[in-house]
Amino acid sequence: MSDLLIRGRVLTFVREPEGIDDTASYRFFEDGAVLVSSGKIAAVGPYGDVAKQADGGVPIADHRPHLVLPGLIDTHLHFPQTQAIASYGAQLLEWLNTYIFVEEQKFRAPEHAAFIAGRFTDELLSNGTTTAVAYCSVHPESVDAFFTAAEERNMLMIGGKVMMDRNAPDALRDTPERGYDETKQLIARWHRRGRAHYAVSPRFAITSTPEQMEMSRALVAEHPDCYVQTHLSENRDEIAFATSLFPEAKDYTDIYARYGLLGRKTLLGHCIHLSDREISVLAETGAVGVFCPTSNLFLGSGLFDRDRFDKLGARHSVATDVGAGTSFSMLETMGEAYKVLHLQGQRLSPLNSFYMMTLGNARALDLEDRIGSLHAGADADIVVLDSRAKPAMELRMQVASSLAEELFVLQTMGDDRSVTEVYVAGKPMQSGRVEVRRDVPRALETA
Ligand code: GUN
Ligand code: FE
Repeated sequence: MSDLLIRGRVLTFVREPEGIDDTASYRFFEDGAVLVSSGKIAAVGPYGDVAKQADGGVPIADHRPHLVLPGLIDTHLHFPQTQAIASYGAQLLEWLNTYIFVEEQKFRAPEHAAFIAGRFTDELLSNGTTTAVAYCSVHPESVDAFFTAAEERNMLMIGGKVMMDRNAPDALRDTPERGYDETKQLIARWHRRGRAHYAVSPRFAITSTPEQMEMSRALVAEHPDCYVQTHLSENRDEIAFATSLFPEAKDYTDIYARYGLLGRKTLLGHCIHLSDREISVLAETGAVGVFCPTSNLFLGSGLFDRDRFDKLGARHSVATDVGAGTSFSMLETMGEAYKVLHLQGQRLSPLNSFYMMTLGNARALDLEDRIGSLHAGADADIVVLDSRAKPAMELRMQVASSLAEELFVLQTMGDDRSVTEVYVAGKPMQSGRVEVRRDVPRALETA
């Protein structure tokens, strides 16, 4: 039984574009449609063809002239940092100590965690992001809040409790045993419940002792179906500190390699200052380097070298990294990605940007059968984008003459105002969304 016929200018990628003229990398239907049945996509194609397959009387959501795309995917961000975006003046280690390790202490209180989790997931949806990979705080309650908010909205989300047992305030430290036990319990409670996936999350080498890294190894070995997320080579002081803590390792990447943490399900935030040797290790293990352009600019961390990743055959994805990242919008993120690559003489075509936010990120998560493209059998996670959402965009679009140009306008000038609707498993979330609470509670006292 068909539930909904979504009509619009349908765009979906079938492979990575090889440049701005690569029209074979995507399918585009100027008058297209997506037929949704029981939360899944039943058919995609020209409106006339798809409409014939629908049951009589099926409701039609007519989004013409807007673009209909797969829901956007964000492969790295921090849900407890939602209220710490725009914290002034510091690079990574000082920023963590001054702002983030204070902010994350608030998540000991389940009511605060629940409040932020709701606002966080709504903010993702407002920006057209239907799947995200998130760090929670060290508190198991924050993971419960995160997955509860995702489940209420039926979103495919990936997340996990941060593990930290040194170089952080007492109130944010677990122990190797507690980190292990709490992670095991959370995996049992959440992994593959509905659309949830768990990510084992040692924060980074600086905040885990060798004993906790051993425990992380055990967790990863015991749960090969879970993701692994951590940070790698973001900032020069971080690299010097991390490698000083593990003097036996060849380099920063080797720390994670020695503890068995590198594999196809591993997401490594930043990867800015890596040697060829380190990128080759990522290529051999299948681990994914996560490019976070707004964060890397905001913290003054450096420029991600995408071409070297491609040359050495290593996988990469793209992400906001909120709250070092300055926007929840994947459109704004790709606008900044373009500039970061441009500064290095590298080019990012708008086709590649839209591929990266959708199918590219789905492939980085090995979830391309479910999300990231519009095909029969996939989950009906869909975003609708208006290329004329702001007066300046409308004016610019008056002289745009190709799809690629329109996409470039969207990534350069667009943000949440361009998102006119988002569907999660076939359900419209803008019109039928969980009510956004505007009554901001007073900041809770930290412990
Ligand atoms: N490295 C370790 N923790 C963090 C974090 O919360 N944000 C960023 N950008 N880098 C980190
Ligand atoms: Fe991060």
